Amino acid sequence: MNRLVIVSNRVPLPDEDGNPPAGGLAVALHAALRKRGGGLWMGWSGKVQTEAGTEQLEEMEIEGITYALTDLSETDYNEYYAGFANRVLWPIFHSRLDLAEYARKEMSGYFRVNRLFADLLAPRLQEDDVVWIHDYHLIPLAEELRQRGVTCRIGFFLHIPWPPSDILIAMPVYERVLKALCAYDVLGFQTDLDLANFSECLRRENVGGPVGERTFRAYDRTFEAGAFPISIETADFARLAEAADSGDELVESTKNSLTGKQLIIGADRLDYSKGITHRIEAYERLLIEHPERRGNISFLQVTPKSRSDVPEYAAMQKQLAELIGRVNGALGSADWVPTRYINQSLGRSVLAGLYRLADVGLVTPLKDGMNLVAKEYVAAQDPEDPGVLVLSRFAGAARELKGALLINPYDSEMTARTIERALSMPLDERRERWRGMMDHLLTHDVNHWCEDFLAALNAPR
Ligand code: F6P
Repeated sequence: MNRLVIVSNRVPLPDEDGNPPAGGLAVALHAALRKRGGGLWMGWSGKVQTEAGTEQLEEMEIEGITYALTDLSETDYNEYYAGFANRVLWPIFHSRLDLAEYARKEMSGYFRVNRLFADLLAPRLQEDDVVWIHDYHLIPLAEELRQRGVTCRIGFFLHIPWPPSDILIAMPVYERVLKALCAYDVLGFQTDLDLANFSECLRRENVGGPVGERTFRAYDRTFEAGAFPISIETADFARLAEAADSGDELVESTKNSLTGKQLIIGADRLDYSKGITHRIEAYERLLIEHPERRGNISFLQVTPKSRSDVPEYAAMQKQLAELIGRVNGALGSADWVPTRYINQSLGRSVLAGLYRLADVGLVTPLKDGMNLVAKEYVAAQDPEDPGVLVLSRFAGAARELKGALLINPYDSEMTARTIERALSMPLDERRERWRGMMDHLLTHDVNHWCEDFLAALNAPR
């Protein structure tokens, strides 16, 4: 079997005892590497160096997998990661042109770090390697590798949405980004909608388009492009939730603290794309329109901080804390707090247990490539008494999870009404909706995603 080489911005290393990292994607990719008897995983170490000397790879071998990590200089970190990747590509791909802060210097830094990755990786590649590159940080990497004479199969998976053409072309260097993607052999998008948007961008630019079922031709290259919806380790997550339900201290004490109240849960990285402020406003509306719910429900919002170096994220952190404070102050009482807001990350097992405890899972992004919290919420439920998933129609997961109650997060009236419907849904309907989603997730788990993509990448040309 050919050696698999994975490249991603961050690299999830096993812990000190050699145990693979938690989390579906990391587990699936480690499993794919091990199945091939090992492989290489390259990326950023997560460390930022102030001094020179970052242009090298530190290699380590753990359980047959070679990890090759590079530090980033402060300038590279600021321009590539905190700059172009997270202040231009992230907002634009999430259709937030208003939040995009384009700077030529940062764009140069983005392409420079991709050249650095290519310089470090190319000499380590063998002709029959299969290379799988992940996410928006590394779009130009295949093109850079090709320029260094690399001829092996190179695939790319975009974890975030691909925007409509009107939005993409507002990005000053969109032609370079679009062309760079066409240097891959297989392009994976989360949904058929992302794929259609990509195809429309090629058509509008008059540079190519589909020539077969999954085959595209653009910029004088032929490549495959398809929708490969990412997923979770469904069966493992279900087991974790069941175990946490009766064995985790925090889950147990949270259950006791509810004293019979219904629990609504939201869990998202602190990111404007997740629609958390819209969600709180909808919850506020529910409490105003249904005063009988006050004191009888509790909303737990778990929101670990992220990308705090990026100004838009720091601003959102402040805005959200103020909003929650205002709602709690206005609608709470001496013996009841409407929203419990946790600005920290919780362990996988605790989260699984809390999802199982919650009567309603609120997953309401304004735009999301997939959203694995939605899938985890479903997997965590008790089959005898499952909760209800309220899901934004703008999450990739909405195209698969047909038993969810779909909402438009911009419509707070509708969201409030839908939360009310979820809170009062009869058991039979909850079971029926949950069963269909769970059956789908059991067959379409993260291993299915990984194997499906790698089969396309390994297919004979
Ligand atoms: O969803 C896209 C993504 O880049 C993931 O790959 C990553 O796990 C997550 O966002 C967190 O982002 P960051 O690495 O910037 O903290």
